[in-house]
Amino acid sequence: MEKFRPARPDWYEELFAKAMEEGMRSYEAEVAGYKEDLFRSFTGTSKKVLELGVGTGPNFKYYAHADDLHVVGVDPNKQMEKYARGAALAAGLLPTSFTFMQGVGEDLPVEDGTMDAVIGTLVLCSVKDVNLTLQEVKRVLKVGGQYLFIEHVAAQDGSFLRFTQSILDPLQQFFADGCHLTRETGEQISHAGFSDVNINMTYVPTISIISPHVYGIACK
Ligand SMILES: C[S@@+](CC[C@H](N)C(=O)[O-])C[C@H]1O[C@@H](n2cnc3c(N)ncnc32)[C@H](O)[C@@H]1O
Repeated sequence: MEKFRPARPDWYEELFAKAMEEGMRSYEAEVAGYKEDLFRSFTGTSKKVLELGVGTGPNFKYYAHADDLHVVGVDPNKQMEKYARGAALAAGLLPTSFTFMQGVGEDLPVEDGTMDAVIGTLVLCSVKDVNLTLQEVKRVLKVGGQYLFIEHVAAQDGSFLRFTQSILDPLQQFFADGCHLTRETGEQISHAGFSDVNINMTYVPTISIISPHVYGIACK
C-alpha cells in the first residue's frame, strides 16, 4: 500500500474522515437526484459489490436494500471504517454483509473476476495512478460486471474555472488528502478497455471547484 499511498499521521486520517462525514452533507443533498437515477439503472442483480475508496459510505443508501448483497469497502484510511460501517447498518445491510478492507485501488485486495460490480465515487481524483486503478477494477470484475462511477474532472480548457482549478490544485492535494482538481478522468475511463461505457457530464453549482462531474456505468 505504501508504494501508492505513503502513510499519513493518525490525526490527519481522522480529521479527513470526520471532515468527509460532516462536510459533505450539502454536496450529497445536491447530487442525490442524479445519484438516485444512476443507482436505479444499476441492474440490482449484483450480489458482490466492491466500493473503491468507500470513505464514509454515502452510497449505501442507494443500493444496500438489494437481497443477498455483500459489500467489500476498500479504503487506505482505516479511520473511514467506523463511519462506513455505521452508514451500512443505517442503510439496512446486515453487519455480516459489509467487510472493510484497508487497501488501495492500484492493488485491490481481492481475487480476479470475483465482483459483480465495482462502485467508485470521487476516488480517481485521489489515487496515485488512475490507469492502474482502472485496470484493477477490470481485473476484479466478472465478465459482464459493471463499474459505476462518479468523478470530478477538470473544467473546460481556457475557462476561468479551469484556471482557478490549476491555481488551487496544489492546495487541494495538501488539504484534501491527495485530491487533484485537473484530471481528465472521463477520457481515461473511456479508454480503459471496458466493452461498453456510458458516460455523462453534469455541473455541481455550489461546489464549483470540484465541477464538472462525469458519471456513468462501464461494463467489463
Ligand atoms: C473524496 S473521498 C470519497 C469517498 C467516498 N467514495 C465518497 O463518495 O464520499 C476519497 C476517498 O478515496 C480514498 N483513497 C485515497 N487514495 C486512495 C487509493 N489509492 N485507493 C483507494 N482509495 C483511496 C480516501 O481515503 C477517501 O476515502
